[in-house]
Order: sequence, then structure tokens, then C-alpha cells
Amino acid sequence: MKNFTSVDDITNLNELIALAKSVKAAPFANKELGKNKILGLLFFNPSLRTRLSTQKAALNLGMDPIVMNLNTEGWTLEFEDGVVMDGASSEHIKEAAQVVSQYCDVIAIRSFPTLTDKEKDEAEYVISAFKKYASVPVISLEGSTEHPLQAVADALTIEEYKKKERPKVVLTWAPHPRALPHAVPNSFVKVMKKADVDFVITHPEGYELNPEFTKGVAITHNQDEAFKDADFIYAKNWSSYREYGKILSKDPSWTVTPEKMALTDNGKFMHCLPVRRNMIVTDAVLDSDSSIVIPQSNNRTYAAQAILTKILEDAG
Ligand code: CP
Repeated sequence: MKNFTSVDDITNLNELIALAKSVKAAPFANKELGKNKILGLLFFNPSLRTRLSTQKAALNLGMDPIVMNLNTEGWTLEFEDGVVMDGASSEHIKEAAQVVSQYCDVIAIRSFPTLTDKEKDEAEYVISAFKKYASVPVISLEGSTEHPLQAVADALTIEEYKKKERPKVVLTWAPHPRALPHAVPNSFVKVMKKADVDFVITHPEGYELNPEFTKGVAITHNQDEAFKDADFIYAKNWSSYREYGKILSKDPSWTVTPEKMALTDNGKFMHCLPVRRNMIVTDAVLDSDSSIVIPQSNNRTYAAQAILTKILEDAG
């Protein structure tokens, strides 16, 4: 594996999940692999889980992580080619990516979408530019359109908690006060398409995700129908894709409640976190035994450690 910026970079999901399980069982078994290697974590946006779990994963492999909040601590970067840099940007990505490549053996980047410029977001202009100009592997810590490390942790969690060979997994939209990106649901859709699950998406009309990603997946606007006999409910808010970045609904009837969970087959509740209590899901569900959001977040470490293992092994 050269880079990991999309679920599409996973060639064999079963193999990757097996690796994640094995690093979870023995996290310090491969401490020599990352010795004298630096992981650079560059954040353009806030994070709790991704920031800490990826550093922990690097430390487990003997790597030294270094972290920078580029949005507040770095020079403002220019991503356009051929421009006269007489505005706010002080440094071009061409130099910045090459410079960071000299200090780090792997570069990991978080860069959220604008949610106003669809074309720019879909081009993953920040992560793509780092991939273009960096001379070391690049990992996405959540880009404009995907959050692939989250998806690996999600797939690992479903594998650990499933009680049936082919569980029913439901991705449900839920209300939120702010316009949120599509990265988590997009990557979850992609990884569930690779997994051996019966997968259904439910959302209000107008909240269709990019049809390129959801092609072939069952989609319903009837949340109750979707929840019937489900083994996993994965809740997430996202803004409209069609009316790009807009909030079309805050309908509280889409909040996940104990009554909705009662429709499932003793289903488990999942969310990538952070979660808005009593918007996305009620306290009663989140504080119940059906919620597996905490072990799900723990799996972020082993997802990152599996990916770093593959990247370091392939880098030689
Ligand atoms: N789920 C997730 O990526 O969490 P953070 O935004 O806190 O990193």
C-alpha cells in the first residue's frame, strides 16, 4: 500500500480486518517496524479521536509522531498553480509538501470540505496536492469526500460484534444543527459494499449521497422499515449533496430512539463520534447496552495501526 486516502485503496478487506484484529491482540509485537521513522500528522481541522488514536498507533509500531495544526500554526498555503501570490497565502503546497517529506516518512492529513465548492471538494484538492508533491506515503485523516480510517474501524467493529454470518447493517441519516460533510457516510458506504453484509441506507428525500458511491445499495426514505430486524444501526448526519452543503431538514422524527431500536433484532448502535446527544440519538440509546460507540472509537487505533503496518512494510 503506497497511500491510504480512500476505501478504494483497500485491495482485500478481509485481510485488512484480520491484520487489524492481530495488531489489536498484540499491539506491541511489531515495535521494530517503525523504529527511527517519523509520522507527520497535519491538521487543518479539529479532532479528538483521529489525532490521538493515530499517534497511539504510530507509537505502538515504534514510530515517532509529530503533530501540527496547519490552520492555526502554519503558513497559509496556496494550492493553485501559476498564481501571483499577492494575497493571504504565504507558501505554495509545492514547497510545503516537499519540505515536510524531508522531515517525515509518512504524512497524514486532515482537511475537511468547503461544502460550498463541490468541484474543489470532489477533487480532494488538499490531499491530492500533498500526494502530487510529497515524496513519501500520504494517509487521509479525513478528506473532503472520505474518512477511510474511520471506515476500517467501523468494519472491524461490525466484524467483532456480529452474531450472524451476514448481518443487516443500516446507515441512517439523523438531524444535526450544522451542515456536515459526506466523508464518513461515503466511506462507510464504500466499506459496507466490500463487506459481507445486507446493507440499507435510509434518509429523508433530498439527502441522497453521491450516486456514484451508493450505486447498487438499497435506499429507503422509510426509517422504520429500514430498522426492521437490523443488527447494526449506524447513525450519521450529512448535508444535502444535491443542494450541495445545504441543510434541508432537522426533522426530530429521524432521531434514533429506544422505540426505533426496538424495531431491530437487538441491534447495536454505532456512530463515529463526536455525537450530538438528543439530536442524532437520545441519551437512552447512547447510554444503553446496545450502544457500541466507545469500543468503535477504540478500534480507530487498530485501524490506523493496520494501515501504518501495511504502508511501512510496503515502503521497505
Ligand atoms: N470520528 C472522528 O474522526 O473523530 P475526530 O473528529 O474527533 O477525530
